[in-house]
Amino acid sequence: MGLLKSSIGRKFAMALSAFFLMFFLLQHFAINITSIFPDNGATFNKLSHFMGTNGLVQYVMQPILIFGVVFHFVMGFILELKNNSARKVSYAKNNGAANSTWMSRNMIWSGLAILAFVVLHFIDFWFPEINTKFIQGDWSGLHDGEFRYFHELQHKFLSPIRVGAYVVAFVFLAMHLLHGFNSAFQSVGANNKYTKGLKTFSKIYAIGIPVGFIIIALFHHFNH
Ligand code: HEM
Repeated sequence: MGLLKSSIGRKFAMALSAFFLMFFLLQHFAINITSIFPDNGATFNKLSHFMGTNGLVQYVMQPILIFGVVFHFVMGFILELKNNSARKVSYAKNNGAANSTWMSRNMIWSGLAILAFVVLHFIDFWFPEINTKFIQGDWSGLHDGEFRYFHELQHKFLSPIRVGAYVVAFVFLAMHLLHGFNSAFQSVGANNKYTKGLKTFSKIYAIGIPVGFIIIALFHHFNH
């Protein structure tokens, strides 16, 4: 993996994994937003059942996604450590605020907050799903003769503590994406006449998606 030995190569790989995760997040949002449609979860149940039982999704896309998540976190730590050790003697006066934003200097912290969220989120949704399907061997998606996905989702958002933790995590996600999206475009060299358009798009995505997730969590907390 010669590419990952150079600093530019590592930034490029980091950007590619970031784009991949942003694409995942968009499709994850597109499916989850259907849970607030006024059809009592019918669309959400259908989509969840398809995603949860389709062979391509389960055995090809899901492992790629897990690899992408782990790669992004591990690479983020490596980049952070390398950045810190690149200068053996620290600046006498490190006035970072003069030439970089607070968020760009703290990607590792917003990243760690998102990592904590992902762990909680896996305990909430992913592990029970793996347990039902792969350990108990129940692929029917049913509970008492009805699809179970929508009720499970509603149940999770009853707790104000969990909803609060999710909302805080989504605010960190917005901050991480606000800097991360621009940084990723920069790393793949997309710094040209389209930059202004890309910046606007990044902002809409970075704020729109987390706000959308916040709406979903609050909606289920207040409507069940
Ligand atoms: C209100 C917001 C959200 C809801 C309701 C939600 C819901 C769910 C559900 C139901 C699953 C289980 C899918 C399955 O395996 O069958 C899941 C999995 C997952 N979610 Fe979320 N999610 C939300 C936000 C997020 C965010 C913001 C992220 C990333 C930062 C995220 C990352 C993941 C990942 C990586 C998985 C595992 C995917 C898989 O392999 O199935 N989720 N989510």
